Amino acid sequence: MDTENSTRQAICCLFLIAFIASNHAAVVNIKAKGAKGDGITDDGQAIVSAWNEACGQPAPSSLLIPPGTYMVSPSIDLIGPCQAPIKITATGATVKAPPELEKFTTNYWIAIRNVSKLTMIGGTYDGQGRQTWAQNLCPDGGPPGCPLPVNLQFTNVTNSLLKYVTSADSKFFHMRLSLCDNTRLDHITIRAPVDSVNTDGIQIGRLSGVNITNSIMTTNDDCISIGQGARNIRIKNIRCGPGDGIGIGSLGRRSNDEPVQGIWIKNVTFTNTEHGFRIKTWPTSFTGSVSDLHYEDIIMNNVTLPIFIDQQFCPLNNCQNGTASNVKISNVTLRNIKGTSATKVALKFDCSAGTPCENVKLADINLTYEGPEGGPAISECANIEPKVFGQVVPPACPYIQ
Ligand SMILES: *[C@@H]1O[C@H](CO)[C@@H](O)[C@H](O)[C@H]1NC(C)=O
Ligand SMILES: *[C@@H]1O[C@H](CO)[C@@H](O)[C@H](O)[C@H]1NC(C)=O
Ligand SMILES: *[C@@H]1O[C@H](CO)[C@@H](O)[C@H](O)[C@H]1NC(C)=O
Ligand SMILES: *[C@@H]1O[C@H](CO)[C@@H](O)[C@H](O)[C@H]1NC(C)=O
Ligand SMILES: *[C@@H]1O[C@H](CO)[C@@H](O)[C@H](O)[C@H]1NC(C)=O
Ligand SMILES: *[C@@H]1O[C@H](CO)[C@@H](O)[C@H](O)[C@H]1NC(C)=O
Ligand SMILES: *[C@@H]1O[C@H](CO)[C@@H](O)[C@H](O)[C@H]1NC(C)=O
Ligand SMILES: *[C@@H]1O[C@H](CO)[C@@H](O)[C@H](O)[C@H]1NC(C)=O
Repeated sequence: MDTENSTRQAICCLFLIAFIASNHAAVVNIKAKGAKGDGITDDGQAIVSAWNEACGQPAPSSLLIPPGTYMVSPSIDLIGPCQAPIKITATGATVKAPPELEKFTTNYWIAIRNVSKLTMIGGTYDGQGRQTWAQNLCPDGGPPGCPLPVNLQFTNVTNSLLKYVTSADSKFFHMRLSLCDNTRLDHITIRAPVDSVNTDGIQIGRLSGVNITNSIMTTNDDCISIGQGARNIRIKNIRCGPGDGIGIGSLGRRSNDEPVQGIWIKNVTFTNTEHGFRIKTWPTSFTGSVSDLHYEDIIMNNVTLPIFIDQQFCPLNNCQNGTASNVKISNVTLRNIKGTSATKVALKFDCSAGTPCENVKLADINLTYEGPEGGPAISECANIEPKVFGQVVPPACPYIQ
């Protein structure tokens, strides 16, 4: 009887110890790796060594950045594969980059690569970009490969979740994701002043099955920028603005651009943005395609040019004009879009003469002009014959109806 009881107790106790051990061993606090959290000392190496330890654990593990302010010098590389799912918890923490651009030798500040099943929760990642914006080194997107650092770069981070993460005042784009299949971004905050330069919010490309939901973005450039090879993307419940809306492209400048296909955008409010939706393709371009786009339940508040298909995109004025874009845009639905345009042109479809836009459906659109010129909003169209359902105001492409 006694033996049986104590055996039971011993087994129970062993399970308890094992349970506690498995939970405890798995949390690596960056303070235990030497982080000071005084906002001055460079805590970058502490983060990298905490990552390396957590990543090497055979059981699910996490890296903890406790509440506080951490100075983190570039570049931080958090590289997998990890042995098991890994988590970065930074709730209440602010991680700051040095303001000086000279300290950067890479085009990112913090990069995470080759990881599956990452969960990143909380934290403000502050790029301290003000000094860099003042230098204005990459106007209009700059020359190709303009090498300013992205705040957070995710490459081949798959089956992952980023939640309650804030990116502030990046020197260039806030977040860039490529090859990050099956990843969800939820409750993301992007924050930069309207006079910052090229501070795109979330840039995605060459990935599939990415969802971005319940997020707020105030910045100077695209809130979300969708690049080549983005497939099966869902964007929902977003507030964007100021900023430049949600953009696809630019496409067609390089020979190997992969198609953009399957984009669902629902319940987005754009406020004081330059565009709501824009598709940008270069003239005299390589071939490409954009298809299967669905925009619905959208509010535009004082948007300069709410809906814009621009197949003569040429920001640097160095294009060979006269030859049409070879990027084909097809199977697009725009439904239930309401609100105000800050200029008279509310819809502009400048499709390619070589490969006209095909199968574009417009339903229940009501965009009104509220500005000094007065009068109704108008549309401008080239090389498109949209199918219209319900009321569309302003009437789209009236000359073909
Ligand atoms: C990521 O994995 C690929 C394929 O295994 C490898 O070629 C690449 O070097 C890895 N990247 C890093 C930063 O380790
Ligand atoms: C992505 O990372 C995984 C490890 O997580 C690796 O096996 C794979 O080769 C990488 N793929 C690429 C394209 O780098
Ligand atoms: C994205 O949303 C779709 C539709 O709700 C869902 O089926 C899919 O699993 C989601 N993907 C991720 C990575 O959350
Ligand atoms: C639309 O998105 C906003 C956040 O921008 C959210 O508050 C609201 O609940 C969403 N509406 C629906 C119907 O999901
Ligand atoms: C509307 O947008 C215009 C141009 O961006 C701006 O000058 C104006 O202040 C905005 N109006 C309101 C009410 O926000
Ligand atoms: C080409 O056309 C675009 C769009 O009309 C215009 O913005 C750009 O200035 C033109 N570039 C040249 C070199 O003519
Ligand atoms: C566009 O839709 C049509 C009809 O649904 C389909 O046959 C075609 O393959 C689609 N085009 C693209 C490029 O996906
Ligand atoms: C469009 O919106 C304006 C302003 O809210 C409203 O006065 C008008 O009746 C609406 N038109 C349609 C066709 O819904």
